[in-house]
Amino acid sequence: MSVLVIIPAAGSGTRFGGDIPKQFQPIAGKPMVQYVVERFLLSGLVERIVVAVSEALLTTVRQAPGDRVQFVAGGETRQQSVMNAFKAAGEDFDVVAVHDAVRPFFRMPTFEALLDAAREFGGALPALPLIDTIHATRDGRLAATVDRTNLVAAQTPQVFRYDVLRDALERAIAEGFDGTDEAGVAARYGYDVRVVAGDPHNIKITRPEDLALAQTHFEEWSSEG
Ligand code: CTP
Ligand code: MG
Repeated sequence: MSVLVIIPAAGSGTRFGGDIPKQFQPIAGKPMVQYVVERFLLSGLVERIVVAVSEALLTTVRQAPGDRVQFVAGGETRQQSVMNAFKAAGEDFDVVAVHDAVRPFFRMPTFEALLDAAREFGGALPALPLIDTIHATRDGRLAATVDRTNLVAAQTPQVFRYDVLRDALERAIAEGFDGTDEAGVAARYGYDVRVVAGDPHNIKITRPEDLALAQTHFEEWSSEG
């Protein structure tokens, strides 16, 4: 099985703030995106990793010939960044995994379960059941309580058969639909996207307190179990 990994890392991190975009904040002494790329490189199945970074940064990253890692310019939205990376990668892959640059604690056993499920069904994502009660609001007041029985919170890596992701992204572009993740886009066009048990430690670094938590718990959360 040949696996392409796409890492969208072209966001501006408005919720995180600060001078350095969150994907370049240090985790285990390296920029977070580098740490994430190196973890994927440990898998022998991963043939290529395409990282989407901001246009400004693209001039400063060097492309090593024959390297498994390639950089491309990202886009205005996450979906556009993923599309740019997908197009640049070529076609010679069985499956594609899309993973946030800002989720340093994904686990290999989960990744492998996702690869298997995607090959069998078309797509797969890790997700967690919701813990909190969810209310809909209107003008600062509670309007209704949402039944959370069938709700899950999506994580990454999200994995698809190559042709499934290509078709889903092409149809989204044709329709002018911009999804917040690829699993949602694939499901929108009728593909079978299976839910695999996510990991509570596979947090997305969104605000500064998430980075503090990640740095504090690094040893424990990065160990493979
Ligand atoms: N991303 C991207 N291109 C964009 C927007 C987001 O590649 N135009 C990437 C981010 O770099 C991140 C991942 O998508 O790795 C998840 O997005 P998110 O956590 O929302 O990051 P940002 O969009 O940078 O943050 P914010 O929404 O707070 O601005
Ligand atoms: Mg965002």
